[in-house]
Order: sequence, then C-alpha cells, then structure tokens
Amino acid sequence: MSKIDPWGKCEIDDYEASMDEFGIEPLKNVKLPKKHFLFESGFVYGHKDIGLILDAIKKKKRFVMLTGLMPSGKMHLGHSLVVQQMVYFQSLGAECNVLSADVEAYLTRGLDRKKMEEISEDYFLNYIALGLKKCKFYYQSEGSVEYNNLSKFLAKKVTFNEMKAVYGELSPGKIVSALIQYSDILQPQLKENGGPCPVVVPVGIDQLPHINVTRDLAYRYRNEYGFVMPSATFNKLLPGLKGGKMSSSEPDSAIFFDDSDVEVGRKVMRALTGGRDSIEEQRKSGGRPEICPVFAYHSVFNSKESERIRSDCKKGRLMCGECKKELNKVLAGFLKEHNAKKKEAKRKLKEYF
Ligand code: TRP
Ligand code: SF4
Repeated sequence: MSKIDPWGKCEIDDYEASMDEFGIEPLKNVKLPKKHFLFESGFVYGHKDIGLILDAIKKKKRFVMLTGLMPSGKMHLGHSLVVQQMVYFQSLGAECNVLSADVEAYLTRGLDRKKMEEISEDYFLNYIALGLKKCKFYYQSEGSVEYNNLSKFLAKKVTFNEMKAVYGELSPGKIVSALIQYSDILQPQLKENGGPCPVVVPVGIDQLPHINVTRDLAYRYRNEYGFVMPSATFNKLLPGLKGGKMSSSEPDSAIFFDDSDVEVGRKVMRALTGGRDSIEEQRKSGGRPEICPVFAYHSVFNSKESERIRSDCKKGRLMCGECKKELNKVLAGFLKEHNAKKKEAKRKLKEYF
C-alpha cells in the first residue's frame, strides 16, 4: 500500500505498480508531439486526461499550464523536474501560470511573510534561468476577487468526510490551503481569465490528492462555471542523496541551487549508491542503478550519458567512485551555467508579474 499525504510523508515503493491504485495512466503509452528526455526516461511517468491537452494542441486551441511552488525552503534540484515539464508545455503553446503558495506556507509551515517573498523570488529566478519564458506569476495572497471567492464557494460541494478520506488528519489550516489550491487550478478557466479551457498541472506525485478533489469539483461545478476537468502529469520524486526523501530541512539529502562547488562535491562523494560492498564484487555482479540515487541524478542531469552509465554499471565495468566523479563534474557545470543565467534573469523579473 502506498501512502500520500501532501503535507507529510509520501511513501511509494513502486511507482509503476501503484498507478492502478492511484487511478493514473502511464505516460509511456502516450504519443507526445515532441520528445522529452524526462518523459522518455520515465521520471515523468503518469497522467490524468492528457488527451484533452494533446487535442487542444492538435486543434491549435487555447490551453493553460499551471503549477505552484511552496515557498518554505530553498529550491533544490529535485524541484526542477516540475520546471522542466512547465518549459516543455510552454514549448507546445501553453499559456503559463505559476503561483507561490504563500498562504499555504503561512498556514501549514508557519513562515513569516517577508521570508516567503524572498524565497519565492528566488524560485521565480531559477524558473526563468531553467528556460521558462513569458509567464504569469502570482501569490496566493494577492489573487483577484473572483479567485478568492471561488476558493470559498468550492467549500459548498465537498464534504468533510470526503476530505478526511483523501487527506487523513485535517486542520482548519489544511482545509483552507486545500480549497485555495483547488481555486488555483480552476482559476485559469474563470471568465476574467479567458473562460473554460483544458489546463494541465505538472506536479510531483505527492500532489495527487489535491488533483483528484479538484477534478471532482470541476465536474460538480460544470453547470455554474462550465469547467473542463483539469489534466495533470506526475513526476517521480528524485531520491535523497542519503536514501529516503529529499528534504529542504536536511541539507545533506539534496543539492540546492545555491550550493557551492565544494558542497556539491562533498554531497555527491558521500552519497548512497546501488554499489556492492567491494570492488571485486562490483566487478563480478555489477551495481544496481535502479536503486541508486547517484544514477537518478545522472538520468536527469546527464541524460545523454545515462544509458551508457546504466549498462556499464550493471556489467561491473563502472565503479561508484568514478561514477560519482562524473556526476560531480556534470552538476558543477550545470550549476555554473545556471547561475550565470540567473544573474541575467534578475534584470527581467519585473516583466513576468
Ligand atoms: N501544494 C503545493 C506544494 O506543496 C503548492 C501548490 C499550491 C500548487 N497551489 C497549487 C501546486 C496549484 C500545483 C497547483 O508544493
Ligand atoms: Fe550507482 Fe554509479 Fe555505483 Fe552504478 S556505478 S551503483 S550508477 S554510483
């Protein structure tokens, strides 16, 4: 049994096997208009109703990509999986919306507003540096009257028991956060924003419960608002460098966008691997890329080489030390380039709001 709590733990042993249980469809059977390595590698692996989006693309009709960020900690490399999907949908013609979940962070993580603004701005800069172009950024605390009303009106057609069944333990803060998130996802379809249209929400699989309730609500309000059910794509979560989850509160579990070369090197060299206990055994039996956090990073940030690495690892031709050195070099190069682009982005940020 897999468990997902969007405010707590997300424990999934086998992503592919849990798709049925979650009611999501595999993306590998879907023919996308353009190839993208994250979809090919299976890191972005599931969807709901992606057909609506593909149809809009084919018919050259308006569609929107919307997602949100949680401004409660520094941005790490794992967060870039969603950004890459955003850039992808933008390249297919999506109108882009990104919000900072500052109200949710305030209610569920207890951060002060000033700090959240700093963090949000840093995220936005990273997004632009990662290739996001013209895009509407907004804060949950600053939405329009219609958007704010929607977040309240939606409460009429969802029951407390339904929410408990989806989320488990609830609190007033969680309920308000969830209602705002439904409103986030549905607001591109408000009249003031252009009216009903397909919307795709790229998210980590931890956000699935919110997507499910929003889709139910879109249906229940179809007569009042004319909503189309929102679509979603789901990415796996990049594993923590020490095994387990990657977390902003555990600095050594993740690589952050503002880590220095020295820090990156230290974290990579100390990372857990899928390697064997001794070099002899590794030569004989090969490593296990499928459970190796270092390999997960290779497949996302060194995608062109990842097939070679997988195969050499399994055949016992590649040793973990060497493999880590390669990753270290790739990540240092990636971050250097990223930071140069980010400097550039600083000058353009105003145009995005
Ligand atoms: N709850 C999301 C998170 O924890 C942030 C979020 C708020 C969001 N509104 C959204 C994500 C709308 C996608 C769509 O990261
Ligand atoms: Fe992981 Fe690389 Fe070691 Fe294989 S060789 S187990 S991919 S670190």
